[in-house]
Amino acid sequence: MSLFLDAAWGKFTERAPVWMMRQAGRYLPEYRAIKEKSSFWEMCRTPELACEITLQPVRRLGVDAAILFQDIMTPLPPMGIDISFNPGPVIKEPLRSPTQIEALRLPEKAEIAPFVAEAIKLIRQESPVPLIGFGGAPLTLATYLIQGGGSKDYAEFRQFLRYDPQAAHALLDKLTELSIRYLSMQVEAGAEAIQLFDSWAGLHSAPMYAEFAKPYNQRIFAALAAYKVPRLYIAVEAAHLYPEINQLDCEVVSIDWRLPIYQVRSQLAEKTIQGNLDPAILLAPKEVITQETKRVLEEGLGGAHIFNLGHGIFRQTDPDHAKHMIDTVKSFDRVKAKGLVLK
Ligand code: CP3
Repeated sequence: MSLFLDAAWGKFTERAPVWMMRQAGRYLPEYRAIKEKSSFWEMCRTPELACEITLQPVRRLGVDAAILFQDIMTPLPPMGIDISFNPGPVIKEPLRSPTQIEALRLPEKAEIAPFVAEAIKLIRQESPVPLIGFGGAPLTLATYLIQGGGSKDYAEFRQFLRYDPQAAHALLDKLTELSIRYLSMQVEAGAEAIQLFDSWAGLHSAPMYAEFAKPYNQRIFAALAAYKVPRLYIAVEAAHLYPEINQLDCEVVSIDWRLPIYQVRSQLAEKTIQGNLDPAILLAPKEVITQETKRVLEEGLGGAHIFNLGHGIFRQTDPDHAKHMIDTVKSFDRVKAKGLVLK
């Protein structure tokens, strides 16, 4: 087993495993060099490139897990949806009617993204650390599909949920089935853990989450249970949803930086906590990074902890600063620290 998988399964590890949300991407010059020659979709759909980009942060930074280079939008085009990136996802014809939702195809497991299976196999041959596969949670995918792209308040989407909840449920149901097929395929190809990104779930109240997110996330986690890989979940700005999230059948919950880990643990009983350094800290001087990284590590001593950022790394981040954070995590002995803190 590895440090990452041990901690994901709930073990108090001697040191915290560390990886970073959005660790493969634009803050790395070696990513930008590839990006100059290929479009984002080309990078995703060429297994050799996806493998190379996945491994870039593993080589440069020594993280304890790799995350597949793809996007949460990857499985959607075979449904009949036209998506481009600028730099975030742009949906050519946002879904605004029940007819459009009914017309969406549900592709078979093998046709969703064969290039992802290929990329996973290549990564598994080369990666010294476990590979995390991932997908977008149905509510977060629906947010983009109905809104049409990123937005400050996602007003169109939130209006749709109220005007036509039935059509919204029909869409969420299709996205759930698609995700089960897509994520099962990833595990069968070799992914050793699965993270479900519910980035925009925090926009909603707990009753809305209970109706439009939880049952669908639960179906995905239940379908993955048979594979015996750890299941990770992240929602951002979602502390008000922890009582609901705690009921999800997953092993790890990623939390943002807004609350300290020790304050959240009792609400997420028996889950491994992943997080929660504010990604803005990596823009600070190295002394600040050392200090804040140690603070998060101490706050995480109450149980199983995977060190991560509270959300994606900023593209302005100096890779040396990220490396400094990772080295700080690696030099922190949790067993010794726990003894000191308890005395
Ligand atoms: O390193 C990794 O984490 C693996 C690759 C990965 C990407 N997107 C590549 C990407 C992962 C895990 C994602 C997930 C993703 N995509 C999420 C969930 C995580 C989160 O941050 O909340 C969301 C909401 C998206 C949608 C998306 N795709 C956005 C908002 C953007 C905009 C640009 C950005 O960097 O935030 C994208 C494009 C995208 N996806 C890029 C990358 C590397 C940038 C493409 C470029 O180089 O221009």
